Amino acid sequence: MKRYAILLLLALSIAAVVQDRVTADEFIRLPSEKRDSDDLVGTRWAILLAGSNGYWNYRHQADVCHAYQILKNGGLKDENIVVFMYDDIANNEENPRSGVIINSPDGDDVYHGVPKDYTGEDVTVDNFFSVLLGNKTAVRGGSGKVVNSGPNDHIFIYYTDHGGPGVLGMPTSPYMYANDLIEVLKKKHASGTYKSLVFYLEACESGSIFEGLLPEGLNIYATTASGPDENSWGTYCPGDYPSAPPEYDTCLGDLYSVAWMEDSEVHNLQTETIRQQYHLVKERTSNGNSNYGSHVMQYGDLQLSTDELYLYLGTNPANQNLTFIASNSLPPSSIAVNQRDADLLHFWHKYRKAPEGSRRKTESGKQFAEAMSHRMHVDSSIKLVGKVLFGIEKGVEVLDGVRPAGQPLVDDWDCLKTLVRSFETHCGSLSQYGMKHMRSIANFCNAGISKEQMMEASSQACPNFPSNSWSSLTNGFSA
Ligand SMILES: *[C@@H]1O[C@H](CO)[C@@H](O)[C@H](O)[C@H]1NC(C)=O
Ligand SMILES: *[C@@H]1O[C@H](CO)[C@@H](O)[C@H](O)[C@H]1NC(C)=O
Repeated sequence: MKRYAILLLLALSIAAVVQDRVTADEFIRLPSEKRDSDDLVGTRWAILLAGSNGYWNYRHQADVCHAYQILKNGGLKDENIVVFMYDDIANNEENPRSGVIINSPDGDDVYHGVPKDYTGEDVTVDNFFSVLLGNKTAVRGGSGKVVNSGPNDHIFIYYTDHGGPGVLGMPTSPYMYANDLIEVLKKKHASGTYKSLVFYLEACESGSIFEGLLPEGLNIYATTASGPDENSWGTYCPGDYPSAPPEYDTCLGDLYSVAWMEDSEVHNLQTETIRQQYHLVKERTSNGNSNYGSHVMQYGDLQLSTDELYLYLGTNPANQNLTFIASNSLPPSSIAVNQRDADLLHFWHKYRKAPEGSRRKTESGKQFAEAMSHRMHVDSSIKLVGKVLFGIEKGVEVLDGVRPAGQPLVDDWDCLKTLVRSFETHCGSLSQYGMKHMRSIANFCNAGISKEQMMEASSQACPNFPSNSWSSLTNGFSA
């Protein structure tokens, strides 16, 4: 019996070696053993950021709280973990368990103890950048905690939210553009204040944040939930399998996020490498290559992926004796919900459950209808702008064009920002949902469209500024 178990482990190891091309010594070492050269000299730092608010976005803050618990169990100190979360979930009137946040159907509370460094209106792009750069004087509001790192330190960044081509959401305006993030990463590298940095990113089209943009040589390794032109997925949603408990009308987590965190909880992170986790997370997030999954990507200095995870996440002493098992603890879920539809799902369940004739019924019906009409308005306006600019046939081609792999979304980021602002001036905010159209606007820039042309086309497409609350410019990209 025991011999079989050993043979099986050996076979698994060999398969993993072939598959991952990792060196054999990773498997010959006993789980509790570690190489002397791995001994950590510097400090582990982390930034955790949930870029949304609203109860229908429950899952992003749940993900971040869960990540905090993993780092805390791993031995990181609160003074080295900076948390950005709007903090409107735990005590939200929609929350069936007041003061509690869960990240899986049977999960424990992950909200307790989470440092409230930057909450509410302090969750901003500028604060995130200043915290990462360790610039305390530039921070506005919040706890003032920054990543005050030195040359031997390791930094882990985890960001979960909505996104679109070249852009990441924030619960405040403006959103974050990929080129600004890359500039800050370069600046951090130039300051010589870290040894290596690992970035885990979940958002729709998250690959577009690094594709063709993150250079090698910065000692940065990034993985993203999806390719540059793919959705990412919410999970543990109402009606999903496994489903959120019946009293929850919202998704509890995101597929890639839950995959890396649940993996981290069942492995000895002193021996599991980033690359091993990448493969397991990639497999689980692809969801059996169904229509409800995405392709996890990796960017930057890929050789860092041979690092053991404990350099970044620490290690939970309770997992010290676990033997590495190269398979996912959970089967793929049969359904997941496109991140962009998770708000509709919430309004729909709220509406469905509300008593006939109640104020709640009217209110949720209105929310659903408004979200739908905003979507239709944004979709049709951007199409119309494309057709005004390029004519009917060419317009469709430009709107839907995707650049080849390895190329950034756009060459001139200032143009992209300007054209987005021009569109929003006449047609209202793109908002969370409308981020999906960033690629079309980037294509306008790549085709040489000027601000004046965009202004003119937008005013033709949207003769009246929309009154829908989702269109309000406070929801938008424009600063
Ligand atoms: C920190 O931020 C302040 C205010 O934005 C700026 O003036 C200063 O140059 C920054 N310091 C460094 C070291 O970048
Ligand atoms: C791991 O194994 C060692 C040696 O057998 C033992 O002393 C230790 O308590 C175990 N740790 C855990 C968390 O089970």
